[in-house]
Amino acid sequence: MKECLANYALRLFIIFDCELYYYVSERLCPKMMKAVFLEKPGGHLVMKEVNIPVPGPGEVLIKMKAAPVNPSDLARIRNTAAGHDLATFIPGIEGSGTVVVAGKGILPRLWLGKRVACSSEYPSSGTWAEYMVTKAGNCFPLSEKINDEQGSMSLVNPLTALAFFEIIKENNHKAIINNAAASALGRMVEMLGKKQKIPVINIVRNQHQTELLKNSGSQYILDSSSFSFIEDLGKLSHDLKATILFDSVCSRQLDNIIDALPSGSSVIIYGNLSGEEHIMINPRCLIDNDIKISGFYLGRRAKKNGLLKNMMNLREVGRLMSSDMKIKIRGRFPLDRAQEAVDTYLGNMSAGKVLLVM
Ligand SMILES: NC(=O)c1ccc[n+]([C@@H]2O[C@H](COP(=O)([O-])OP(=O)(O)OC[C@H]3O[C@@H](n4cnc5c(N)ncnc54)[C@H](OP(=O)(O)O)[C@@H]3O)[C@@H](O)[C@H]2O)c1
Repeated sequence: MKECLANYALRLFIIFDCELYYYVSERLCPKMMKAVFLEKPGGHLVMKEVNIPVPGPGEVLIKMKAAPVNPSDLARIRNTAAGHDLATFIPGIEGSGTVVVAGKGILPRLWLGKRVACSSEYPSSGTWAEYMVTKAGNCFPLSEKINDEQGSMSLVNPLTALAFFEIIKENNHKAIINNAAASALGRMVEMLGKKQKIPVINIVRNQHQTELLKNSGSQYILDSSSFSFIEDLGKLSHDLKATILFDSVCSRQLDNIIDALPSGSSVIIYGNLSGEEHIMINPRCLIDNDIKISGFYLGRRAKKNGLLKNMMNLREVGRLMSSDMKIKIRGRFPLDRAQEAVDTYLGNMSAGKVLLVM
């Protein structure tokens, strides 16, 4: 009871007497931190010591605990290397940690002292660092049931999986097709499909991944390297009335895949794992079969959703991640071995996530 009252008093103190709290917490923080940088375009990741950033209005400073290596991190590293100042660029899009300093504003102060899942806002302050400044709106308190490691992966993929099922329901699709299905996101889509009784056709790229999914109970698995893949996809998608394809590969095969889909299908591109910059699609197929193609980016959807809806989705993610939706972790690396972490991850992406731990 005493502890509860003390906590309550502290919260009031934080909200109403924020200037003093800001002053105290800022001074309790060290001034320097270790963070990951890219040594040169196409070069290695290295660790450097730099000043800890200071949060401005509406922002918080987070003492980071863990951050995964995701395909979007590698894409961002590639894109940033092409056009930005590498001296200030710190990679890492999502992670977890504790809010240790609050900038001006109600939300930053509400989050102060809380363990949060967070995403980066600025290229100069990523999650692959001991501390990160980001917008308070990019932070979501973690439930006690989720540890720092699982929490560090609770935004990008779980929220995307939930968004897919919102899209499916909004458009009344009876079954779905997902590519790169042995990915962490693919497994979440399969799990949510089972829960919501929506059949998922999982496309993988080799026999090993087929076995992996079979062993974890997936019913519909197609190997894109098999001779009969397009024919099998055509038959299964028509049988199950799978009229939506989520594609994160975007390879030259997409043209044939689209050709095999039932008439009126939607294709949603959400990744570019193949690295192909331009792919060809037969316009006749789009016209004759009434196929719609669009893109999906979680950041855009989250901004559109607003804080309240995002918080509700995060609550659902928390519930799922504390039961069935645990993400497999393959390795943990300190910041000074970030390059090794990325190499390990790229060596076998389907084997589980690689984390940077601070
Ligand atoms: N648009 C968005 O907002 C959004 C949000 C979340 C995720 N995503 C995207 O979702 C995808 C999955 O992310 P994740 O974190 O779940 O991935 P992950 O767990 O790291 O796994 C990546 C998977 O992709 C497979 N893969 C890699 N290159 C491939 C290629 N050229 N062709 C076919 N398969 C390939 C890997 O297979 P191997 O083991 O054989 O390499 C592995 O199964 C990524 O493209 C990511 O960018 C997009």
